[in-house]
Amino acid sequence: MPRWDGLELETEGTGISEPLSRQVNLLGSMLGQITRDQVGDELFEHVEALRVLCKRAEHENDPSLREEAADRIADLDEDDIVRLLHVYTTFFHLVNQAEQQEIIRINRERARRSGPADWPLGPGSGNEQSGGQPRAESIDAAVAQLKEEGYSVDEVAELFGQLDIQPTLTAHPTEARRRTVLRKQKRIADLLATLDRTDATPAERADTLDDLHAQVAFLLATDEIRADRPTVREEVEQGHYFLHGPIWDTIFHIHRDVQHALRHHYDDTAEVPAFLQYRSWIGSDRDGNPNVTADVTRWTFATQRKDTIEHYLDELDQLRDDLSLSRRQVTASEALLNSIEADAQEVVLSDESLHQYRHEPYRLKLCYVEARLEALLDQIDETDVEAMAADYTADDLLADLDLIAESLNLHGFNDAGRSGQLHRMRALVKTFGFHLAALDVRQHSGVHEETVAALLRKAGVEGDYAGLSEEEKLEVLEAELQNPRPLVSDPDDLPKMPAEMMEVFDVIRAIHTVDPDAVGSYIVSMTHTVSDLLEPMLLAKEAGLGNVVDGAFQCPVDMVPLFETIDDLDAADDRMETLFTHPVYAQQLEGRDGFQEIMLGYSDSNKDGGYWMANWALHKAINDLGIVCDEYDVDLRLFHGRGGTVGRGGGRSSQAIRALPPVVHNGRIRMTEQGEIISFRYALPDIARRHVEQLVNATLLSTAQAQEDESYKEMLDDKVSTDSDVAGLMDRLAEHSMEAYRDLIGDGGGTEWQWYTQVTPIEHISRLPIASRPVSRASAGEEVDFGSLRAIPWNFSWTQPRYIVPGWYGTGYALSKILDETPEALDTLRSLYRRWPFFRGILDSAQREMARARLSIAEQYDAHTDPAISNHATIVEDYERAEVAILKITDQDEIFENSPVLKKSIQLRNPYTDVLNLLQVELMERYRSTDDPSQQETLGEALLLSLNGIAAAMQSTG
Ligand code: PGA
Repeated sequence: MPRWDGLELETEGTGISEPLSRQVNLLGSMLGQITRDQVGDELFEHVEALRVLCKRAEHENDPSLREEAADRIADLDEDDIVRLLHVYTTFFHLVNQAEQQEIIRINRERARRSGPADWPLGPGSGNEQSGGQPRAESIDAAVAQLKEEGYSVDEVAELFGQLDIQPTLTAHPTEARRRTVLRKQKRIADLLATLDRTDATPAERADTLDDLHAQVAFLLATDEIRADRPTVREEVEQGHYFLHGPIWDTIFHIHRDVQHALRHHYDDTAEVPAFLQYRSWIGSDRDGNPNVTADVTRWTFATQRKDTIEHYLDELDQLRDDLSLSRRQVTASEALLNSIEADAQEVVLSDESLHQYRHEPYRLKLCYVEARLEALLDQIDETDVEAMAADYTADDLLADLDLIAESLNLHGFNDAGRSGQLHRMRALVKTFGFHLAALDVRQHSGVHEETVAALLRKAGVEGDYAGLSEEEKLEVLEAELQNPRPLVSDPDDLPKMPAEMMEVFDVIRAIHTVDPDAVGSYIVSMTHTVSDLLEPMLLAKEAGLGNVVDGAFQCPVDMVPLFETIDDLDAADDRMETLFTHPVYAQQLEGRDGFQEIMLGYSDSNKDGGYWMANWALHKAINDLGIVCDEYDVDLRLFHGRGGTVGRGGGRSSQAIRALPPVVHNGRIRMTEQGEIISFRYALPDIARRHVEQLVNATLLSTAQAQEDESYKEMLDDKVSTDSDVAGLMDRLAEHSMEAYRDLIGDGGGTEWQWYTQVTPIEHISRLPIASRPVSRASAGEEVDFGSLRAIPWNFSWTQPRYIVPGWYGTGYALSKILDETPEALDTLRSLYRRWPFFRGILDSAQREMARARLSIAEQYDAHTDPAISNHATIVEDYERAEVAILKITDQDEIFENSPVLKKSIQLRNPYTDVLNLLQVELMERYRSTDDPSQQETLGEALLLSLNGIAAAMQSTG
């Protein structure tokens, strides 16, 4: 294959591994050749010239070379710019896949070397070098640690029983790649894995290289941008792709890992319940997305049920194939035979099946199970939930599988129920039921208020509910929640929005009747007050979702507040205390067995108060909520609404779990998995399994430690964060940082907003058709402003020009002010950095975002804005101050020196990303300076492409 250097990362001597650099170079040279073939030598020369100029600008510290690159771009026509964007974006798609392969390779290598020398592969497998050490952060490692601490096998099983881990997929608009691009990347990843196989024959390698070449060629020629926004239904299907694919398989492996670990460390096994379940918002999160209608939620439920049952039928086929045990060889249990007889009374099988399986009771039983599932499938109706039968439930299916397992155990197949297909099916049914992933419904508190107001007005109870004070609202709500009669007899008479809201509650009620497990939580975004949580309860009552019991309404669905502004986080524990002692809500809580879920919003709090304030306010709120729930004996589950990037609470979930205040380590946890994070974590089975095992490891060990070891609490957190000096210092840090941040954004309008709209591509992000949800909560036609802009595009827009404000800004002002005013605080900050995982995590994440930021490139964007309103110098100043302070606190010579591999990867990517940034700057400038609509359309399209390109380069939208 002809070689071409143009898109190779120079990895030699950089600490980047040899296999990774080999793969990147292979993909780079393929792409180079394909570029020549598809678009010609001339364009290829531009690719190369721009890359070299940007690289030299960096190495020679000569900004004039970057100017030269910008001038060269200014001479290009739009078609060439578009082609360049394609080539560079494709390059990053390929590099990202090679990096994913590197992660898999390292994990597999570690797994191979873990475990005792004679297990499971035996001497010579490589694991004899491990000294029997389990792989870090694995399930095996967690069980090994518990054993060492003296836990018996039953205690470990009991601990698993306390776990309640619920990752939640959302359709948040952060996946910029089209599905077809994702699929091609997956193909490329598989082919790279095949190339890595040491036992591949020359013919297999040649075939693989040919296939790889073809896939790269197809990828380069594929449109990056969707022609239209995806519909909600398409988003639901995308979620199902992951749930029924990699997640489905991961669940089984995780259950199996638990069994292996128990057998390995205790030479025993124990049944563990479903400690991990998935939930979804896709098709049911309505907050700010008018496309998620009641019909869509109904359809989503029906589709999930249908697809899941169909998947079980496929799994049962496989099981039937395995269980060909003949009565003439072994007997079946009495219970199983009786159940077959009972089945025969209710279910009609074909004579052919009855005859075929007359000697094979297990297969016969499975035929009955299949017939029951098929009957359920026949009753699925996307338009009428209530018509769906509920006479054979997921619990019934599990009970049938258990009967089979018990019978096998009784007759000499001890392990058969715990391994293979039967074990897999039991794990799947326990986890996914018939619903696949329970659907949470989320809506904004303002919408509930409007709906309640409409109902009260119509019923003649209260003419101006919205105008009442909080106390007055509570009075009305309390009275109505104790009153069994509905407020209005015909909800169809309501205005449009309240009528729609009531239809949603009706759908929830109907779904709950058919399959209660299919309904997740009811989440209230922007919960500010106690009435915000009581209002949806009144709507539930109105829809007949629940009953008035002992004079107060009880809803069978969890009502969940979402606290997401700084003020609301500060007041969260008080709000919850008021609710816990509220006569009506206390009854609701009792009806839920004292269980309360509380959600926290990481992005909106950052958008509201900036980086340090959001993180500190969240940490305090978590601690305080843990305490108040303890006081009222409330069984708390925290739900962390985190995004992928640091500015949205991103980072490794397992580390975030370990850094939580110990008071909330009770085994229960939920977190969102959004957009690009879903594909990053779940697209490749090996990576999915690693992510999930880390989640389980962290939750299991933190729960055990918090329960067993009082000193753990002191050691890790409480002592540090409640020590008044430290808390005072953190308060000051957060306050100063918020001050700097709020100065930068102004009052959400004015010149600060003006500069923001000039320097970032927010205008174009709004047009990017990556999701069904609009970027703003403002109604169609209304102007987008800071207040209505969603936190995701806010982050996205700061990432593109490389300011990455939400990930660090304010650090410089806050730290330098503290160090100027109280120089002795340096010792405390240093010690906090060494001792306190929370503080270290926040400071390291800020460093990471500072390393990803690139103010020399941001300057190119700023150069095209109105200098009178520019805030560029302010941001640069904060960056420089932050750098000085962080180096002092962390004892480093350079920012982010403590993560050399990541830092190197950012640096290696920079010259290529610079080209994409320069192309975007040029396009923004051309777009601004033309009035010609057709020219604007062409440039607008190219700008969308540049957004995708930079997102691929940064591996995040925002
Ligand atoms: P939201 O999410 O806007 O849907 O609340 C914000 C985020 O996840 O970043």
